[in-house]
Amino acid sequence: MVFRGFWEKLKKPIIGLSPMDGVTDAAYRYMVCKYSRPDVVITEFTNVEGLARGAVEMLKAFIYDEIERPIVAQIFGVEPESYYKCAVILCELGFDGIDINMGCPCSNVARQGSGAALIKTPDLAKKLIRITKKAVKDWSEGMTMEKADVHTDIISAVDGMKNGRIFERRMIPVSVKTRIGYDNVVAEDWVAQLLEEEPANLTMHGRTLKQLYMGRADWETLAKAAEVVHGSGLDISFLGNGDVKSPEDARKKIADYGVDGVLVGRATQGAPWFFDGKEPDLKQRLNIALEHATYFAKKSGNIFGNSHFFKIRKHLGWYCKGFDGAKELRKNLMTVENVEDVERELAKNF
Ligand SMILES: Cc1cc2nc3c(=O)[nH]c(=O)nc-3n(C[C@H](O)[C@H](O)[C@H](O)COP(=O)(O)O)c2cc1C
Repeated sequence: MVFRGFWEKLKKPIIGLSPMDGVTDAAYRYMVCKYSRPDVVITEFTNVEGLARGAVEMLKAFIYDEIERPIVAQIFGVEPESYYKCAVILCELGFDGIDINMGCPCSNVARQGSGAALIKTPDLAKKLIRITKKAVKDWSEGMTMEKADVHTDIISAVDGMKNGRIFERRMIPVSVKTRIGYDNVVAEDWVAQLLEEEPANLTMHGRTLKQLYMGRADWETLAKAAEVVHGSGLDISFLGNGDVKSPEDARKKIADYGVDGVLVGRATQGAPWFFDGKEPDLKQRLNIALEHATYFAKKSGNIFGNSHFFKIRKHLGWYCKGFDGAKELRKNLMTVENVEDVERELAKNF
């Protein structure tokens, strides 16, 4: 029997928030979960080798709020022993699941053999799933960060993040998010390989690494990959991903292509209400933008120091579309330095 943890309890169709590095940070995910309800939430991907070396600042990707559950941590890399350590850390932090990124097309990731480059090294990809599952099992049976030889700086930082909380020693599911191929489409063979390791869930983006984010996502291929999963007789869910524009579009794609659900990324930018499908009016929209900036300042003050406030600018820009004066407001928001600046610019439109 495949261990599926929370994935097994999700009602189908599953409509979740896709991870986006530099976008789906703690504040973004909090806003999405406050204003609508994705069935599952996944963090930005984080490098296992960096964590194994003791890069404490990388732990910021693993800050989450209880309202995000079920919350899955996404990791990437190539070193099996670093996956082991990282999985133990994620169990300690109380995550509901771990997702392995086998889809990132960025040259700095793929050049090292991780992300979508794993499509070309299926034996390594399978080993990474196996070792991550082993770490989770070991942790459920008493493995500690010390025994797993996790870097001492990471152990202290994780203890700080837990802030006295102790999570139940339980198994958590390991899933994979990938693409339909590297330079050409190999979705069906690739899925069959991954199924050998019985991941709890597979998500597939309907583009190859070579396509990056260009062209249109190939949902016909995703439908064929879904058939391989469903025909395997294994109880594993398969989510399609790519170019979903709205909750209605999600439901249509799920019905037309026979997937168990979808993950949605870019269509949620500047639209934390996405999963409820109810568009707020302009006043509500700008109030939500202000709340996002305020929450970001509070969180980023703790996590990065306030000099990182500029990172909210692109998010504020995404909120400003489809109304008179949106372009001018967007331009003005690109220079904000603090919450007061945001409030002043938005107030001009209330
Ligand atoms: C800015 C950006 C960052 C991304 N970062 C990640 C990531 O960290 N992990 C991942 O699995 N996919 C990542 N993706 C891919 C998305 O999760 C998703 O697969 C892709 O955007 C297609 O879905 P969409 O059309 O709904 O956006 C990223 C995409 C974008 C645009």
